[in-house]
Amino acid sequence: MASANHMGMPGESLRTHLRAATMAAHDLLDHAMQAANGWQTREDYARFLSLQHAARAPLEAWLAAHAPAGLVPPPQTGLIARDLAQLGMPAPAPAPLFTIGRPAPGSALGVAWVLAGSALGNKAIAKQVARIGGGAWPVAFLGDDGAMAFWQDLRARIEGPAAPTEAEGATRAAEAVFSHFLAAAEHAPTHEESVPA
Ligand code: HEM
Repeated sequence: MASANHMGMPGESLRTHLRAATMAAHDLLDHAMQAANGWQTREDYARFLSLQHAARAPLEAWLAAHAPAGLVPPPQTGLIARDLAQLGMPAPAPAPLFTIGRPAPGSALGVAWVLAGSALGNKAIAKQVARIGGGAWPVAFLGDDGAMAFWQDLRARIEGPAAPTEAEGATRAAEAVFSHFLAAAEHAPTHEESVPA
């Protein structure tokens, strides 16, 4: 999944560069999450939320330790735990630690971009959940206005070109976050494994 060019094209916005570098990983993740969660039952939705909680908990811890205040998206694991509790499920244990070694210029921006950008996908998923769940499933996480507001602020910051070292650090970090999510998705129980025959 490593991009061939971490530096980007001259004049390219950081956002365009990050999206291009992680497009394949995003497609894989989208596919893995849809495959693991058929979106038919409350249990399917709860599995999706559990995966999100497990993957995000160590990322939120990483951001709290390494990112400057403006690059810390509002934590969402509390919202996910609330949704899981309303569905009658316990919050899952955190996934293994997330680490990218010594933080470099752009690292925090890359991690923040992936988590903030995921609010776009969450908005689309929230519509699906409202339809499938007949409006009865809790959506504190998917409908989080705080995440969308953070995303709008971050957009302004990434819609121009970045210094090459910052672009490189952000890209490496974003790729690492997608790998971390993919690993969590691959280890999530499938429908067949979690529901007795
Ligand atoms: C079922 C899973 C997912 C679906 C259906 C989905 C869907 C989407 C959609 C519709 C967009 C907007 C695309 C566009 O504007 O062209 C998007 C963007 C994005 N998503 Fe996802 N997504 C999913 C999972 C994730 C996850 C788990 C993450 C990361 C943790 C993520 C990170 C992002 C990022 C970083 C962007 C791009 C933001 C930007 O435009 O700068 N997505 N996703």
